[in-house]
Amino acid sequence: MSKHQIASASIRRLRIDEGIPYALLLEADPSRDVIDSYLECSEIYVALLDDIIIGVYVLCPVNSEAVEIKNISVDDEHQKKGIGTIMLHDAFRRAKESHFKKIIIGTGDTSVGQLYLYQKVGFDITSIKKNFFIDNYPEPLYENGVQVRHMIVLTKKVE
Ligand code: ACO
Repeated sequence: MSKHQIASASIRRLRIDEGIPYALLLEADPSRDVIDSYLECSEIYVALLDDIIIGVYVLCPVNSEAVEIKNISVDDEHQKKGIGTIMLHDAFRRAKESHFKKIIIGTGDTSVGQLYLYQKVGFDITSIKKNFFIDNYPEPLYENGVQVRHMIVLTKKVE
């Protein structure tokens, strides 16, 4: 995919007549039950290239001041080409338009690449939810050969 193609990717809210892109969502969060629990309160946005969904992110208000990106995912073929960064900036813009003061994202303690990306776009680590992935998921999760245990919570001021 060239830079020109990336530039032509568009992001819009998932339409009501479209199916929920579970395959993509499950790449970021392996529990369908957990996904369904936050979809109830969320807005789903999709990234499209030539009318095909290649990425998704999910925005869920936490309270009147904060909104959380509960899930962000790009299909394997289009990863590491800038789509994730474009979606994160799209989320920042929407958070600002909706007058939220901060935006939150959480990821596993083993997710080194994701932690790099989130800090690169301006998130700062603000807390750790100890044993989150042990307490909230039915099966142990492994990434990069290491058990995922804690959730690293990152926050960015909306500006
Ligand atoms: N491992 C290593 N580096 C990474 C990773 C990774 N998993 N993801 C992104 N990066 C780096 C890229 O190499 C790039 O580095 P550079 O700017 O120095 O060249 C930078 O981060 C920006 O990457 P993008 O291309 O903008 O990100 P991408 O389009 O690949 O999307 C995403 C990132 C969404 C994490 C994607 O890799 C993905 O779908 N992964 C599988 C699902 C997942 O882990 N989702 C996040 C879980 S946490 C949550 O959902 C809240």
